[in-house]
Amino acid sequence: MGIESRYIWMDGQMVPFSDAKVHVLAHTLHYGLGVFEGIRSYQQANGGGGVFKLDEHVRRLSDSAKMCRMELRWSREEIKAACVETLVANEMPEAYIRPIVYFGTGKMGLGARDNPVHLSIAVWNWGRYLGEQGIREGIRVQTSTFTRHHVNSNLQRAKVIGHYVNSILARYEANDNGYDEAIMLDGSGYVAEGTGENLFVARDGVVKTPPVVNILGGITRRTAIDILKHEGVPVHEMHFGRDALYVADEVFLTGTAAEVTPVREVDRRSVGKPGPITQRVQDIYQRGVRGEVDWLRPYITAF
Ligand SMILES: Cc1ncc(COP(=O)(O)O)c(C=O)c1O
Repeated sequence: MGIESRYIWMDGQMVPFSDAKVHVLAHTLHYGLGVFEGIRSYQQANGGGGVFKLDEHVRRLSDSAKMCRMELRWSREEIKAACVETLVANEMPEAYIRPIVYFGTGKMGLGARDNPVHLSIAVWNWGRYLGEQGIREGIRVQTSTFTRHHVNSNLQRAKVIGHYVNSILARYEANDNGYDEAIMLDGSGYVAEGTGENLFVARDGVVKTPPVVNILGGITRRTAIDILKHEGVPVHEMHFGRDALYVADEVFLTGTAAEVTPVREVDRRSVGKPGPITQRVQDIYQRGVRGEVDWLRPYITAF
């Protein structure tokens, strides 16, 4: 699973892959203050590529930068155009798109604020984030011993680079214990999210998902809620404990990378095969990203 391409967009220039470098004294590399996005473009049923929810992702990127007081030199429209330009330059209608905003060199130390703010956009082929088998048959997850950030210890609404240390520790732990993914609880013990995905639980035809308080407000999460509502499935945004996972009829994770991934086992309690609600959301999502669902079209389809 290489992350190669021909060009990476850096501060407005299309730079050959091997020249796309950052100085070792770049501030973000040392302290983790920077923001990023994960977006996907899909080959469309009628040809060409289509970027799914590009508006929403670029808005979250600019909100994240604002929250971190990183001033972007590009408007949201310019960033959207740059994402498409990068796909076109690489002749990749279907790709994962990674814009990243970071501080460059200048001063060091936690009080430094005047370093230049850079933006780069890379694209690469990224298959099933949690595996082909995982998306078909479901994955095994473990409740993490690592707690999700307290709502007041970070800006959870922002997609900040440094936040992901918490996620990586949880993911390593789960993988080392033989699980595919970790489920993180918040400081009060309620279910928060996966390390890079939001979480949904279904029981008796009713779905619930944690509210956006100390989790990332996932764009796929929002899409899944829209799909459920469209299909007439009741969905509640509410807190619940890990016991709700143990007696669930269905559990699934959502994320741009993970798409809609069913969960078949939680902490050695079987959830079972992907159920009808999960399958319905998965099916509509997969057709939607390819431009086959009228009300769920990608941002742009003509490149
Ligand atoms: C911590 C976390 N939660 C949830 C998500 C899902 O967000 P989205 O659906 O916008 O990709 C992600 C992925 O970006 C994430 O990193």
